[in-house]
Amino acid sequence: MSTTDRLVVVTGATGRQGGAVARRLLRDGWRVRAVTRNPASKRARELGALGADVVKADFDDPATLRAACHGAHGVYSVQNPMISGVDAEMRHGVNVADAAHEAGVSHVVYGSAGTGTSDTGVGSWDSKLVIEDHMRRLGLPLTVLRPMAFMELMTDPGFFPAASTWHVMPKLMGGDRPVYWLCLDDLGAIAALAFADPGRFIGATLTLAGDVQSIDDCRAIWREVTGRWPRRIPMPVWLFERFTGTDLTTMWRWLHDSDFAADPAETRQLLPTAVTVRQWLSARDAPTESHPA
Ligand SMILES: NC(=O)c1ccc[n+]([C@@H]2O[C@H](COP(=O)([O-])OP(=O)(O)OC[C@H]3O[C@@H](n4cnc5c(N)ncnc54)[C@H](OP(=O)(O)O)[C@@H]3O)[C@@H](O)[C@H]2O)c1
Repeated sequence: MSTTDRLVVVTGATGRQGGAVARRLLRDGWRVRAVTRNPASKRARELGALGADVVKADFDDPATLRAACHGAHGVYSVQNPMISGVDAEMRHGVNVADAAHEAGVSHVVYGSAGTGTSDTGVGSWDSKLVIEDHMRRLGLPLTVLRPMAFMELMTDPGFFPAASTWHVMPKLMGGDRPVYWLCLDDLGAIAALAFADPGRFIGATLTLAGDVQSIDDCRAIWREVTGRWPRRIPMPVWLFERFTGTDLTTMWRWLHDSDFAADPAETRQLLPTAVTVRQWLSARDAPTESHPA
């Protein structure tokens, strides 16, 4: 059976991860069923224009997820605790897993995160372990992807990089500490590799990083690439937490003292074209978050 005969349901398709996965699968010739709560949104319509079959479903409505998964070969599952909170993230991830199980899909690729250990105290990493456990208990044919920090954290306005990536993150974790990075397009490419080669990827748990660079190094690379410094807003931690909660600040404090490491060479074995921070920043059109000072 060729990829054109096979259908992958992509959750979070209007978002960063799911969007990258959906675009890559479409490019590789897969049929994609893109899940969204709002098929009329701009992002959903853009996916439709690329050839995705956009369907309305809600992580909180199992019947809609069952309908979305019906007849599919595979499911890409991702949830966002920053939108829903971690309790809802767990419920959502379990609901998607149950729907995939009921539909009898042949492959589930799960967009996880974190270290894969339960000793961090980071709620949005622990929640993913709960979802993974549930998927394994169901016996799903599962690939777990653990992407490290998205390179888009440096530029995507939705992440408020001036306050978060360039100020609070280095303040709490240390500007000279190693950060493991992966860009979203490379995540999409690796998810597509997994769907294309289930024999190799089912049962695998993959920590994904295209590069390791401290925030100080990233600032220097940004400066070399753009001629300007990334814009930094010295927001107090308490104010940042008022906007974002304590999950990110807990994560960055934990990373300050941890000896967690990922190996970009392992990711490059899967995807030799995985980009470095320098390559990724160099390929950007405009340094929208730059500051001359
Ligand atoms: N930031 C990082 O560096 C990083 C690194 C590794 C992993 N992660 C993980 O990445 C995940 C977030 O992914 P993302 O950035 O791609 O999220 P995102 O861009 O915020 O997208 C969220 C998606 O979820 C969908 N969604 C939200 N609530 C839904 C619901 N009730 N029912 C159906 N769909 C719903 C949205 O679709 P509609 O609005 O169209 O319905 C949207 O497509 C988190 O779990 C995070 O821990 C982040």
